[in-house]
Amino acid sequence: MNVPASGDERPIGVFDSGIGGLTVVRALMERLPLESIVYFGDTARVPYGVKSVATIEHFTAQITDFLLERGVKMLVIACNTMAAVAAHVVTARAGGIPAIDVIEAGARAAVAGSRGRIGIIGTPTTVNSNAYAIRIHELNPGLRVYSMACPLFVPLVEEGWLDHPVTRLTAQEYLRPVLAEEVDSLVLGCTHYPLLKPLLRDVVGPSLRLIDSASTTAELAAQTLQDAGLAASGATPARYRYIVTDVPLRFQTIGERFLGRSLGEIERVDW
Ligand code: DGL
Repeated sequence: MNVPASGDERPIGVFDSGIGGLTVVRALMERLPLESIVYFGDTARVPYGVKSVATIEHFTAQITDFLLERGVKMLVIACNTMAAVAAHVVTARAGGIPAIDVIEAGARAAVAGSRGRIGIIGTPTTVNSNAYAIRIHELNPGLRVYSMACPLFVPLVEEGWLDHPVTRLTAQEYLRPVLAEEVDSLVLGCTHYPLLKPLLRDVVGPSLRLIDSASTTAELAAQTLQDAGLAASGATPARYRYIVTDVPLRFQTIGERFLGRSLGEIERVDW
């Protein structure tokens, strides 16, 4: 007799300062096709990458509580900036529910394959927090870390200039000092940067390892669900909900570029 597989069909809560976190949702959908996802994007208050730590902590607490009220079984901080300065806020409120983030995933992947020198790129708040370097040094104190804030990348990606001379020039300018340190790995420490991967590959050359925080996070999510016995069984098809605080102009187009598929219905909450 076939015994039906038992699983946890509750959704995973994924959140970001805006729509950039859809790169993480995309990677999760590919890696964990049976899992339902509730995505929260704070589109009314994006960008976070240039805001103060106190403000980001406050916003993060609000979003965490909102998702917990929706009965999620795991929280995924898809925003590097929130992960850098407010991961402790999420853990403190999660009440035992696993909470993972892009920095933990990216740092682990960077350490696992580096021969000694790692470059990090991210928003000014992420880079100033030193969160990647701290975590990398906890994992392996012998590694050297070189960081560079790339504030222009977020607006360039949102503009859709993924393969544009202005973006190429900007990348060359930002990456010059990091490349001069002869790093062997480069962590794309921002939700938006995976979309620049082809252009960055051109700029950095073929031998440098590019670490995409979206796919490393999906891998960490899969492992965490497995370890905690929280994986879905597939008894019901995966469902996806997208909740945002504002629906700005061109939202659909930009969102679908990040997600790599159609977004369907988008819900808006009034905060
Ligand atoms: N989601 C942010 C990050 O990954 C980028 C956008 C923002 O500045 O809010 O750092």
